[in-house]
Amino acid sequence: MGLIPQHFIQDLLNRVDIVDLIDSRVPLKKAGANYKACCPFHGEKTPSFNVSQTKQFYHCFGCGMNGNAISFLMEYDRLEFPDAVEELAMTLGLEVPREESTDNRPKIDNSLYDLMSKAANFYQNQLKSPHGKNAVNYLKNRGLSGEIAKQFGLGFVPDAWDSLEKLFGGFNKTNAKNHKLKQQLIDCGMLIQKEGDSSRVYDRFRDRIMFPIKDKRGRVIAFGGRVMGDGEPKYLNSPETPIFHKSNELYGLFQARQANRNLARILIVEGYMDVVALAQFGITNAVATLGTATTATHIQQLFRTSRELVLCFDGDKAGRAAALKALEHGLPQLREGREIKLMFLPDGEDPDSMVRKVGKEEFNRLVDRSHSTFDFLLKYLSSQVNLESVAGRGQLVHLAKPYIEKITDPVYRDLFTLSVAETSGLAQDKISALLDGGNQVKQSEANSFAPKTNRSEAKKHSKPAQKTNKSVQLAITLLLQQPAIGLSIEGFDWLLSFSSSGPKILHELLEIIHKNPNLSSGALLEHWRGKPLYERLAQLAILEREEKIKGQEKQELLDCIDRLLTDARNNRLRTLQDKSSTEGLTQAEKAEYQQLLLLSKQ
Ligand code: UTP
Ligand code: MN
Repeated sequence: MGLIPQHFIQDLLNRVDIVDLIDSRVPLKKAGANYKACCPFHGEKTPSFNVSQTKQFYHCFGCGMNGNAISFLMEYDRLEFPDAVEELAMTLGLEVPREESTDNRPKIDNSLYDLMSKAANFYQNQLKSPHGKNAVNYLKNRGLSGEIAKQFGLGFVPDAWDSLEKLFGGFNKTNAKNHKLKQQLIDCGMLIQKEGDSSRVYDRFRDRIMFPIKDKRGRVIAFGGRVMGDGEPKYLNSPETPIFHKSNELYGLFQARQANRNLARILIVEGYMDVVALAQFGITNAVATLGTATTATHIQQLFRTSRELVLCFDGDKAGRAAALKALEHGLPQLREGREIKLMFLPDGEDPDSMVRKVGKEEFNRLVDRSHSTFDFLLKYLSSQVNLESVAGRGQLVHLAKPYIEKITDPVYRDLFTLSVAETSGLAQDKISALLDGGNQVKQSEANSFAPKTNRSEAKKHSKPAQKTNKSVQLAITLLLQQPAIGLSIEGFDWLLSFSSSGPKILHELLEIIHKNPNLSSGALLEHWRGKPLYERLAQLAILEREEKIKGQEKQELLDCIDRLLTDARNNRLRTLQDKSSTEGLTQAEKAEYQQLLLLSKQ
């Protein structure tokens, strides 16, 4: 699908009021110019969560979470960016436009969701009909309550080739409306075209228990259908469709989020039935992959929702192999405050059978006792070699190497390298030396606006450069806090003559403000979403300034810009001076030099 145009996002952020939006989820109290509440993102008793109406920005002094209306929806409702924009647009009754898509993926037809939801309702109702008797018995025999079946929207599809045709009305008739409907049901994987006669269609799902698969927003996007006897395949799933990409989706995630305001931990299991059975036993934080291995996208999504992921596997060899595979995707995503654990069930058990056998308490204890990523890795890799021999210990280092290389967090990487060193007897620095490219972490540009110059250059200009830096920082802060004052600055392209990044950022800010004259701080910061500079800019946007200088921001900004203009001229003057003493100046440069000299004496 095409990108959401920036202008629409800006417009959206202009129209919505962050105070109303947050207040509808977290009741706010007025406190001076701002609004306050206990932070919804960390536990606290005294409110340090601040919402500014003028800035259209929230910030918690306790945990540091901050952002605009879109960020709030992403964090609080746990939505991905486009979904948060959709949600916000919906509250205002706006349709989200999309830019011409540059990829070849077809545009999503929103009515597919409606069709899927109609089908899901129909299957659910079938459980109440006489045809559904067997299905109800099957579910009962598997120990599911009516309540949990309802909660997960379980249903039944009768043993017929044309249930959907009956539900939607004869689409084998040839009129335009029916033709479109038929095509849509083919597109979303519900109908299959008859081989040899593609004008005839039949139901993909027949005589099965139906598990509706929902996306994060609760829309039905696919089904898994289980046979009630011994038929093949045991589970038939929707194919990949425009609205269903199975390596991105997780069964039960919507329900888990509904059942828990804060998901401290998420359990990742293999089967639909496992998720439903666990939920019935009050373990409402389980999700399942859809017959695929756990992907990097899965892990990424889950870390948006929770800090601790517990991957649950069978205790056999296949289970351990699956665990290793999952860790390959998980290791690069580990960092401070994030944890991946591994849980292995006894042979022949799955979470469904296990929770029924040992009950909720004991099952939770087992989850608590699951292995940490690094303990498991070290134990597993050690079990593959003979640690008694030198050769075996050497092998351990080689086996560990690809895993160490996947760890991007420097602290975790060092710690794990250390445990491999201890176990193998090879010094840690020797192991580090074996790894590709060492483990230097690039210092993020986000920490400073300082110019990227080499040392001698930095020395030569250090004083003026520092002064410039200060003015730039202040100007950026002022603009972030009160974007409108930027409108009084005309003609600022000379800012681009500085070699450092700060003036370029200032230029970018001014440009955005001139293009969108009514921006709030929150909307302005939107331009840096997901970029390294974001946090730094957000900090400047919320910086508390002294009471006595309030109301003078515009003048302050003009003074900053004046100082910067002088700095820019002086820089140019120095360059011309240098050039005149080496290769000499052209006629035009001489004139420019005279002019600059005059200006600098004023
Ligand atoms: P399992 O075979 O472990 O089934 O498949 P299960 O979840 O324990 O189901 P019950 O208890 O026998 O009813 C685990 C998952 O693998 C996928 C499904 O997502 C299933 O939930 N699977 C399995 C398929 O997609 N197709 C199959 O034929 C089998
Ligand atoms: Mn099972």
